[in-house]
Parts: sequence; C-alpha cells; structure tokens
Amino acid sequence: MDQKQMVVSFKRLFEREPTHLFFAPGRINLIGEHTDYNGGHVFPAALTFGTYVLMTMREDDVFRFYSENFPEIGIVERRSNDLGFRSEDDWTNYPKAMLSLLRERTGQTLHGVDMWFFGNIPNGAGLSSSASIELATAFGLNALYGLGVEPIELVKLGQRAENEYIGVNSGIMDQFAIGMGKAGHAMLLDCDTLECEYAPVDLDGLSIVIMNTNKRRELAESKYNERRTECEEALRRLQSVLPVKALGDVSPADFERVRQAIGDEVLIKRARHAVYENDRTLKALVALKANWLEEFGRLMNASHVSLRDDYEVTGVELDTLVEAAWDNGAVGARMTGAGFGGCAIALVPTDGMDGFMEAVERRYREEVGYAPTFYAASIGEGAHELNLGELKEEV
Ligand code: GLA
Repeated sequence: MDQKQMVVSFKRLFEREPTHLFFAPGRINLIGEHTDYNGGHVFPAALTFGTYVLMTMREDDVFRFYSENFPEIGIVERRSNDLGFRSEDDWTNYPKAMLSLLRERTGQTLHGVDMWFFGNIPNGAGLSSSASIELATAFGLNALYGLGVEPIELVKLGQRAENEYIGVNSGIMDQFAIGMGKAGHAMLLDCDTLECEYAPVDLDGLSIVIMNTNKRRELAESKYNERRTECEEALRRLQSVLPVKALGDVSPADFERVRQAIGDEVLIKRARHAVYENDRTLKALVALKANWLEEFGRLMNASHVSLRDDYEVTGVELDTLVEAAWDNGAVGARMTGAGFGGCAIALVPTDGMDGFMEAVERRYREEVGYAPTFYAASIGEGAHELNLGELKEEV
C-alpha cells in the first residue's frame, strides 16, 4: 500500500484530511531471550517494516480508530471518558492504552483524534506488532498534542500498556528496540539500567533471514507470565545464599556454585537459561564487534538449545525450522521473541539464500505439514514522524 492509498482510505472513512503520519518499526532480537525481565541484557534491532498511522486532531473528545489490517472490525469510536480495556475492542486496546497512559502521565485533557493504521509486520509472528502499534500511537500523540515527553518515557509507557492494561508481564525489550532503534545497528541493552550500546551490524556476506513458523501462538501469554513467575521464585530462593537483585546479576560460575539452593529441577533450568543467556548476549556483542561471525552464530545456536531444553518455550515448529537451518548452511539460527510459535532468525550466506530457503521449506513442510514464510531482515530506524508526501513507494 502506498501513501496515496493510505490517504485516500483515511479520507473515505473519516471524511477529512489526515494532518500527520508516523511510523514505528517491528523488531527482531539477535540474542538475549527472556533476559529483559530478569534484569539482564538483550540485543535487538528495529526492522524496516512496521506500523504506519495517519492522524488528525478533532474538536470534540471522540477518538476514532481504524486499521486497514482489520477492516472487518471497522471504525471503533470511543469518548475520552471511555478508554478502559474491553476485550471486544480488540487491537484498539493498544492505542487506547497509550492514550490513557499519556493522559495520566501529563495530566492534560486530550482532544479527540481520528487514527488510521496500517502495518506490514506479519501479525502474531512475534515481531512485536503490538509494541509497534503502541509506539506509533505514542510518538504520534506526543507530537500531535506537543506534549514534549521524552522518547524513553514513551518506551516505558508502552511497557506499562502491556503490563497494566493488556495483562502481559513483558519486559522493556520490544518497546525499547522500537522506540530507540537506529538503522543498520543492533542495540545491546542493559535492561536494569537501560544503558544501551549501538553496534553496527556489518555481516560480511551474510544476511539475516526471518523464518515464520506460521503457527498460531496459543496460550503464549499465560505461558509467558508463568515463565516470569518461575524466574522470580528461582531468584527469591537464590537470594538466600547470594546477594543479588536479579538473575541478570548472577555469573555462570556463581550460579554453578549455589544453584542447589533453588531446590527444584524445573526452577533450576529456568534460572540457568536466564543466567547463561545473559552471558551469551554479552559475548555476542564482543563477537559482533570483532566481526567474528562464526562465534556469533555459535552463541545463537546455544541460545536456541537453552530456550528449547531449559526454558521450554520453542515447540516442534520452531525446533524444526531452526534445525533445518542448522543443517542447510546457516552460520547460526535461533527462535526470536517470546517463542511458543512465531519466528526464528538465521544468519545465512547471502549468495546461498535461495537454496537455503528452498531446503528449509521442504524439510518444514515434510515434518510440520505446511509452509513457513521467509523475509529478508533489514535493520531500520526507530519510531519517527514522516512528512506526509515523503512516503511515495509501496510499503
Ligand atoms: C516478548 C516480550 C519481551 C521479551 C521477549 C523474550 O517479546 O515482550 O519483553 O521478554 O518476549 O525475550
């Protein structure tokens, strides 16, 4: 869909001109999975695909939401005193959450707005389409109302939207990557201090392929919250023998010394993943900076094995895709995001990409029974405003 079509659709639905256009990307995570809410490190990057939102301020206190991705839902209309969560409001709960939180944060009465969304992130694929909607809305409203809230604060509001409004106890990674991403760079983020180091992703003849399992993520939210609770319990037990604030503060050596204090095999496995994954993530930054891509790939592979065996968030679809990638020339491959379906990523020689995708698809079809989808990942800029008129090409 190009910009002209977006504007035409906006005008047809809302019978007025859009005044502003904003974009927020999706994200991949190179390594550092399920470490953010454990006070560890993550290594994500923003993508070039994401969510576009056209906006126009209104005179009254009515908010109207429309998504080109869910035309069957049509326009959802809510007054400013009626922005609470409702399950029948579906995807519009994300922009409604951001509106409520921005209003609370700034103490301002906010005028109504017409908002028109279009996203080209594959839906439910674990590439953070929901955080992308949150940040597109937040950056948009911040500029539209001239609120002057710092981007990092918008990022934190996005996480609160998930935690307090939607009910997923997710960490800060997705919103941070989407709000603060830089084209061509991955970001090593310390999720405790929010210190971030940008590292150029220069892959020397390799490309990142995103591989979508096309599996619906069933029960993903409740299992996600369950993992988080397990980690909190493991930490609580470790704290009786180790003065640490988070699993992200525990070194592998200390963990091996005191892990029996956890006293439960499942909890030991969950904590072991968090501790070693954090360590791998720090090593991955060093490897990437040294352009030591084999080591980077090895760390990715070890990450997947740990997510499969210790954290138990992969499943047959992700495992089949990743194993097929390992067997067909990937330098490294792992699931990305929360798991339970969704996407994996693979580092693949650019000149062998076609053969790679064919072979992985064949194996996946044979073992899982339907086709995966592939996308070339290119690393783009974090959320920003676009000039209406700037976006000419198809997106
Ligand atoms: C989801 C959450 C993130 C993070 C990942 C797993 O994407 O939103 O906060 O926990 O899962 O690394």
